Order: sequence, then C-alpha cells, then structure tokens
Amino acid sequence: MKVRVDRTSAVPLYRQIVDQIRGAITSGQFEPEDRLPTTRALAGELGVNRLTINRAYEDLMGEGLIRGHVGRGTFIADRSTDGGAAAAVDGPQAESLAWEHLIARTPARALDGVSAGSGQAGARPGMISFASLFPDPGLFPVEPFRRAMDHVLRHEGGRLLGYGPPAGHPPLRAWIAQSLRARDIEADPQHIIITNGSQQGIDLVARALLDPGDHVLVENPTYTGAVQVFQSYGAELIGIPMQQEGTSLPQLEEAIARRRPKLIYVMPNFQNPTSLTMSLASRRSMLRLAQQRQIPILEDDFGGDLRFEGPELPSLRAMDRSGHVIYLSTFAKKLLPGIRIGWLAAPPAIVDRLTGLKKIADFSTSLVLQAALYEFCRRGDMDRHLVQVIAAYRERRDAMLAALKRFMPPDVTWGRPQGGLVIWLSLPPRLDEEEVARVAAERGVLVGRGDLFHITPGARRHFRLTYAQASPREIQRGIKILGEVIRAGAVRRSTDQAVAHDERLPLI
Ligand SMILES: Cc1ncc(COP(=O)(O)O)c(C=O)c1O
Repeated sequence: MKVRVDRTSAVPLYRQIVDQIRGAITSGQFEPEDRLPTTRALAGELGVNRLTINRAYEDLMGEGLIRGHVGRGTFIADRSTDGGAAAAVDGPQAESLAWEHLIARTPARALDGVSAGSGQAGARPGMISFASLFPDPGLFPVEPFRRAMDHVLRHEGGRLLGYGPPAGHPPLRAWIAQSLRARDIEADPQHIIITNGSQQGIDLVARALLDPGDHVLVENPTYTGAVQVFQSYGAELIGIPMQQEGTSLPQLEEAIARRRPKLIYVMPNFQNPTSLTMSLASRRSMLRLAQQRQIPILEDDFGGDLRFEGPELPSLRAMDRSGHVIYLSTFAKKLLPGIRIGWLAAPPAIVDRLTGLKKIADFSTSLVLQAALYEFCRRGDMDRHLVQVIAAYRERRDAMLAALKRFMPPDVTWGRPQGGLVIWLSLPPRLDEEEVARVAAERGVLVGRGDLFHITPGARRHFRLTYAQASPREIQRGIKILGEVIRAGAVRRSTDQAVAHDERLPLI
C-alpha cells in the first residue's frame, strides 16, 4: 500500500497515517505478520518527522492492529488467533472513533475559537475581572428565592416536579405580560414563550427563520453569543457600524436593499458591548424600514430594567403595530443567571412555530424554577431586588467612571452608560488592544477585548469593561493598573506564559 499525507488538511499527519493503515488492514490488503516499513524508512518516504510515524504506530498498536518485535520490526497483528478481532470491537482496545471526521460542518464554524469553559478564560484567583458580564453572586437574593422555592414545593411539589407546558408556566407568562404592559408593550400571555435563558430565545428565532446562506443584519460590534447562534444555522452576517445614536441609517438602508436580510438583530438599550442606547429617531426609522421591507426584528432587551438615569425610550416592540418585532428578555442579568429563565414576546403569527421548536429542543424550561420565580415576583421580591441591584450597579458604574477620569491619559475615551453593566473604552491609535489586554492580565486585571465583538476585523483599540463583578474598591485598583499599562505604552511582548498570547476572553 502507498501512504500519502495531505499537509493542507486540518487532520494531523499522524492521524492521516493511522487512518490509511487501519483502512488497509481492515479491508484485507495485508496478511497477518506482514511487515510494515520501519519508522525511519516511512518518515523518509513521506518527508515527515520520525516521531510522527512513531505516534501513528503506537496508536495502531493500541488498537491491536499491529505488533512490534524488538529488533525485528513492526508487523500486522494476527487478530484471528488471539481474540484480537473481538477485542477490536468490544474490548478495551476497541478502535477509537475518529470524531473529527464526523462533526457537522455548519455549527463547527460557529464554534471556532470558542471554549466550552465557563467564559472566564484567562482568569486566575485574585484577578480583578472587567471582562465578563456575569452578574455578581454577592448580589443574588438567595434567601428570598429559597423561601419562594420552599413555598412552591410545599404547596405544589408533586405537580411542579413533572414536565411543564412547552410555552412555559401560565402564571409566570401572565406576570411577564403584565410587567411588559407597564412599559407600554402590549403582549397577551399567550404570546409569551418562556425560554431556557434568552440565549435559547435567540436560538429558537434563528431556528424558526434561518436557512443556510440567509443574511442576518447585526450591529457591529455585537453580542458574540448571538453571532454564534446565527452562524450555527449557516447564516451570513452583515454588520452595521454602531454610532452614538444607534446604527447608521444610510448603511442600514443600503445593506437591506443589497442583501435582503432575513432578520435584523438589535439591542436598543445599553447595547452589548458598546452600552449605547438607540435614539428614538433611530428606533422609529429602523422599524419603518423593517416594515417597508418586510423584515422581522429580534429586539434583545437583555438589560433594559437596569436603568440608572435618563428617560426610558419606547421599545421597538411597543411601537410595532404590524407584528414585525420579536421581543426578547431575561432574568439573568437583573436577577439570577443560574435559573436560566428568559422569554420571548412574539407576534401571534409565529408563536406556534416557536413553541413547537421549544418543545423539540427541550420539552420545557424547568417548571419548578418557573413556579419559584413566579412566587418570588408575586411577593414583590423582584421589585425590591431590582431597586437594590440598580443601586449597587450604579455605584460601581460611578466608581469606574471616576477611576477612568482619574487614571486614564487624555487620549483615551469612553462612554457614560445610562444603565446596564458595561463601559466601552477607546484607545488611541498608537496602542494595540491585544497587547494592552495581555500586559494588564499579567498585572492581574482582565479586560474584554473589543475585537472579539466585531464581526469583521476592525480597529483593534477598544475594551468592554464590565463593572458587574468587582467592588468599587477593586474597580479603582483595577482601573489604576489599566491606566498605568496604557500610559506605559503596552507595546512590550512578555515571555510570561501565564496568560497565553491569543487567549480569548469571555463571550457573554
Ligand atoms: C445581549 C445578550 N443577549 C442575551 C444573552 C443571554 O443571556 P441569558 O441566556 O443568560 O438570558 C446575553 C448574555 O450575556 C447577552 O449579553
């Protein structure tokens, strides 16, 4: 047999060799005890390192397909005499499955560079993190939530520990509809679908609407968790640059005319990652455009309740009278991310489709958690908690704004968020965000690199700084360090491997 290697393939060379020799053995091209070339000879023939051949032969030996005899060489194993054939099927030496050849192509692309970890990449104990949008566990209302949970278990335990309706627990849907009405959003409880976090809401909408090759129009930069969902369904993204008022209208019009997107995804309040709020005029024109061109909008209001100042502007959904806007929100940021409860307020025409997809995905969101959350809201604990977290996050925002003013050089700029959990910082062109982030991490401060939120390579000179987790004192200390790193120029490359050069920071 002739072994070949393809250096352009993503499959490692040793694996290519293993696959070909295994294929030749199992298809009967070899007889037992046939001799394989020496590692040196095969390495020479293929022009690869001898270690590569060693590794391939070791794997094949591990699978029981070949044997090595010291001093004599490497031979095809006789699997008929020693139970080897059976061992290859059932035993501890069963052939390992080459999963890398089986992975479906479309979602794989969305997962490039994403770790399956907790989203705290690069974190070491004692570091100050301005990188992730995880709310502070120290602010979680554990006791009131436990009381609500005890109450529902005591009174309705048996029923609540069964499966729930796919669209969600009716009392919770009614409570959400009522709280939306207080914000001028007309929504019938029947049109609210409870999801497993708002992340699942994005996924359901994408599943309902997108075919591979469809275009989705997003703000640029945007929330990477949504980008990954859209890409996992094979969608192509069109990014519209963020401006002070929201997205650029002429560019939006041009992109819609040219690419006919299937969906528009926006965050009008405290956009992640820029924290910008879309002006009323921009909201109106975006909605008008979507209506004229018959394009649905997914409005992600993940943190609209966390407002510190300024008037609340009407949501796109509140202004929509023609069923173009799917509104999405979550209890994750304002309450508890761990209960994984978000919701969609959908136009009637798409409710059944979304509910069907929710059922296919996971039958329903945990009924007992929805019931505990409803009880928590019914008792007024949600409203009380909101007052507390808004005060705590406002204090942290103010601490960060004050520290930035004090410690940043004059050519660094940032926005003042009216709510939410992040500040978007812009560096002067002389600095590279990756280098600044790396040196800051060496000094114990994690920041979210702006380029990770851009869907097209842009100017690498932004940071998303979240004040969700650090205390005001830590914020001051961390911003002081970041200021020192920026003032020092941060162009030095370090040999410190504690934080890898290409470490990707959190995606939420
Ligand atoms: C803009 C935005 N939308 C949706 C989500 C998903 O949140 P969850 O699934 O926890 O509700 C996040 C999480 O950070 C987010 O930032």
